[in-house]
Amino acid sequence: NPELFTQCLEANSQNPIPFSTTFFTPKHNASFTSVLESTAQNLRYLMPSMPKPAFIFTPLEDSHVQAAVICANKLKIHLRVRSGGHDYEGLSFVSLIEQPFMIIDLAKLRAIQVNIAHNTAWVEVGATIGEVYYRISEKSPVHAFPAGNCPSIGVGGHITGGGYGSLHRKYGLAADNIIDARIVDANGNILDRKAMGEDLFWAIRGGGGGSFGIILSWQIKLVHVPPLVTIFTIKKTLEQNANKILHKWQQVAPNIDEDLFFLVEIRGVNSSTPGKRTVQTSYVGRYLGTADRLLQLMTEKFPELGLTNKDCLQTSWIKSVPYIYGFPNTTSPEILIQRTISNKVFMKNKADYIRLVIPEIALNSIWKRFMQIDEPLMIWVPYGGMMSRISESALPYPHRKGVLFKLLYVSQWNDGEKSMEKYMNWVRRFYNFMTPYASRFPREAYLNYRDLDLGMNQFNRTSFLSSSTWGFKYFKDNFIRLVKVKYEVDPSNLFRHEQSIPPLPLES
Ligand code: FDA
Repeated sequence: NPELFTQCLEANSQNPIPFSTTFFTPKHNASFTSVLESTAQNLRYLMPSMPKPAFIFTPLEDSHVQAAVICANKLKIHLRVRSGGHDYEGLSFVSLIEQPFMIIDLAKLRAIQVNIAHNTAWVEVGATIGEVYYRISEKSPVHAFPAGNCPSIGVGGHITGGGYGSLHRKYGLAADNIIDARIVDANGNILDRKAMGEDLFWAIRGGGGGSFGIILSWQIKLVHVPPLVTIFTIKKTLEQNANKILHKWQQVAPNIDEDLFFLVEIRGVNSSTPGKRTVQTSYVGRYLGTADRLLQLMTEKFPELGLTNKDCLQTSWIKSVPYIYGFPNTTSPEILIQRTISNKVFMKNKADYIRLVIPEIALNSIWKRFMQIDEPLMIWVPYGGMMSRISESALPYPHRKGVLFKLLYVSQWNDGEKSMEKYMNWVRRFYNFMTPYASRFPREAYLNYRDLDLGMNQFNRTSFLSSSTWGFKYFKDNFIRLVKVKYEVDPSNLFRHEQSIPPLPLES
């Protein structure tokens, strides 16, 4: 009963709550649907057939979040926590296994305080990563933060899952650059790093959101970038020797100077021969330095790519951010503070980590499968550099030394249920087909690219054994430590979802 919940919130919040602007039910608020849909990224989880929350609460301050946790506990209502709504499987706003449920949506907690003198910033979880980049750049053109490429992702979910981007080869993940955090625990207390202890502080930096508590804010470490960086894109189709170049990229991109990050977007496109399709590989990169130095480096290490001066554009780091995400190089950085940048689509994506070079001879058979839908897309993201120097157990995120690149299989469509089966089947079949080339024992997966095909907790029955199927893929042996931390901090499993960390004892 939403009324019971608001009464409980009132009784437990330090400060008054203006319910007319923070509490939304389907029955009483015309804006319920727009609030629900506001940041939800995957339209598949907004389809009419998907379960909807009984109500949404959008706290305006920390004490509201504390009260919401206390009341969820007291009234036994299942809760979901949302910061930026970009979860691939919609777990921040849809509960497939337990109804009724409510959403605590943190979009209004989004203050960012940058302290250039100390190379730090405090960031509230409802801020987008684009806002963080922009606010840092307002204070300094040579400071940045290493996190995701998509500007509209939320700081809350993103950092709890790791957070890679175009600076990870140089500085590691977003989670590797966290100094402190504030979290509301299962009892409704606010804890900072000192109060939560090193085990919980370790767990929330990569162990995934929605398992240990509600993060309110992160203290992040700023990193140095030069005043001028160089951006470029080079496209090669099969007719332009794409296979040979891609084969070489796998060996060069993870080992080259860590100032250089260049990923590959692979698409199916029309070929120059009418009526024929071909594979196009686009190398999109950013070098932390001038074009001269980049050209020298590429001539020495990767002449096959054919990078020339006219492909390069020197710009500031902040202007390069929209470009790396796919905007034209003339795009103003102001786009980063427009909170909803990404096109919303229906999607089912999957991911792999690749540890052995995919042989050139295998590529043609891969393309055959790849081209089975109209607009296939893969993104290959190079690792190496700093990522190889951080130990697998330093944080829950284990995919470090030996990873050549991360491979994202993207399946997106616009016409809802109509084409859903076709696109879902394609990506699942393609992922199966790629098994021989993927990492193994376990076949590693990225928590931030959440994939429910890997397994799910069941209603009222989270077990260590069944969650191991996905737990070891996301975390390798760190999964065991995560389960122990979960038992310490949330033994009654208040914070749970389809892939939350189960508490010990093994069956609960
Ligand atoms: P959302 O709010 O959906 O939350 C995700 C999970 O975290 C949910 O389980 C949620 O309950 C939990 N959670 C959210 N806020 C919490 C809080 N304050 N405390 C505790 N738990 C919380 N990743 C990447 O590393 N690099 C990239 O470049 C990209 N790019 C990208 C592009 C696009 C278009 C999408 C859709 C996704 C990405 N991602 C990504 C993946 C992204 O990092 C991942 O989906 C994050 O979880 C998104 O965080 P949000 O806060 O937006 O998600």
